[in-house]
Amino acid sequence: MKYAKEINRRKTFAIISHPDAGKTTLTEKLLLFGGAIQVAGAVKSNKIKKHATSDFMEIERQRGISVATSVMTFEYGEFLINLLDTPGHKDFAEDTYRTLTAVDSVIMVVDSVNGVEEQTRRLMEVCRMRDTPVIVFINKMDRDGKNRFDLLEEIEKELKISLHPMTWPINSGKDFKGVYNLDNHSLRLFTAHSGTEDEAAISIEQLSDHLLEEKVGDRDADQLREDVELIEGVYGDLNWQDYLRGKVAPVFFGSAVNNFGVKELLDTFTRIAPSPRSRETSTRLVDVAEDRFSGFIFKIHANLDPKHRDRIAFMRICSGRFERNKYYHHVRLDKDVRFSNPYSFLARSKDVIEDAYAGDVVGLFDTGNFKIGDTLTEGENFYFTGIPSFSPEIFKELVNKDPMKTKQLEKGVRQLTDEGVAQLFTQFGGNKKIIGCVGELQFEVIQYRLLQEYGAACEFRTLPFYKACWLTSEEPGKLEEFLRFKQQNAAEDKDGHPVYLAQSEWFLNTEISNNPSIHFHFTSEIHK
Ligand code: G4P
Repeated sequence: MKYAKEINRRKTFAIISHPDAGKTTLTEKLLLFGGAIQVAGAVKSNKIKKHATSDFMEIERQRGISVATSVMTFEYGEFLINLLDTPGHKDFAEDTYRTLTAVDSVIMVVDSVNGVEEQTRRLMEVCRMRDTPVIVFINKMDRDGKNRFDLLEEIEKELKISLHPMTWPINSGKDFKGVYNLDNHSLRLFTAHSGTEDEAAISIEQLSDHLLEEKVGDRDADQLREDVELIEGVYGDLNWQDYLRGKVAPVFFGSAVNNFGVKELLDTFTRIAPSPRSRETSTRLVDVAEDRFSGFIFKIHANLDPKHRDRIAFMRICSGRFERNKYYHHVRLDKDVRFSNPYSFLARSKDVIEDAYAGDVVGLFDTGNFKIGDTLTEGENFYFTGIPSFSPEIFKELVNKDPMKTKQLEKGVRQLTDEGVAQLFTQFGGNKKIIGCVGELQFEVIQYRLLQEYGAACEFRTLPFYKACWLTSEEPGKLEEFLRFKQQNAAEDKDGHPVYLAQSEWFLNTEISNNPSIHFHFTSEIHK
């Protein structure tokens, strides 16, 4: 337990939202408070432009910049905060899902005008799979949003999580006056500004205090009293353990662009969000505070420059302390590796570091040794579990346009799938290569990168599948028979696991009910 003090002060999290809800703005404000950036606008330039949906050159450019903002580390009071960036673009959702395996909690931004949107729903599903603790920040209170009670109900219903308001807004839009903090009984009045000065908190122990009328007027004071009575009746006291178990999400209201409610969020976040916790592996629970180091790779970033094939593998440290130039055991390859230039991401500049602790994310130069999900230890053999692949949504056959470059194509496809850019399936009993992605944009990126980095020309042929399910069975004979019989829909993933490719929900449900001895899984653990 040598490192307990260092580890306990770490908070590793991600901000997630539907595009445009305010993730970038909130990130930037948090960094301003943490002193990690000096001016607003610094993070914004990293964003993939909204209208760049088919402009992959723009994506490529962003890929270069986004290494620097993949992890934003800053100190806040006694805490060390690791904020992991997640791409907002829906075509890169899989990247976001994987990043969520490397965090200990999330802040979810919901737009008060639009409420729960498609992407929020999906991201929440991923959080629920891992019981990740969630704090909800309802943003854009300076705009005429939905009724607050309706909004909470919508979030609870749509995201299947219980909520607990920590602050309560007084009106919204042009009448927005501020928020009342139900936890510490103080009022913060809304002023639009972008600096880092704190909004003055006015202590109002008893809501019957006439100071309330003085500050917000008679009508709003009465309304607030009524609302608070209702909230306390409906929501009761928050059990912090329920938050830590991912069962209840504390809710804050604010306006990121106006820097309102952000410091309140950050202060509560650092107080209640979990520090790094113990993690399950294929053999045992790894205690975060054990002295021996362990970690796993959750993201791989290729170099933009085709002349330099090196990549950066992002490793989340799960226990102990990681040291520069020390040999560690690469479990999958069964070989010892060491790193002379590990990066940390303090204050947006990449710095070579001497050591790092559980909860931290370190960037490792990689010449092709890593795949997503790989584990490093001090000698022990285990894999961290809970790093699944999700079913792609678009499937296309990869067609080689230049038979002279077959080898390069194979190598490129293998490396790109190791990086997690796409998933590769090989049709059962044949060698048709099927690429599965979450968005159209990724096919363009693959085609472009195969040509630029490997000199291999390819094209894609659309396939009529909508989902991939990983198959297992206690009766191997039955599974084999099924795969043979359904050859058109059967494939292997790149690790050789059998997969059923369904044309539609109807087909999938029919196969599930016709084959009770076969289990259809909607995610795959990369390592079992
Ligand atoms: P994202 O990363 O989740 O996609 O969202 P982002 O922060 O980029 O915010 C999307 C838009 O919403 C931006 O406006 C941003 O200024 C605005 N916004 C963020 N927080 C608030 C808020 O509290 N109130 C209001 N009214 N707007 C907010 P934009 O016009 O798209 O970009 P910009 O030109 O302002 O940079």
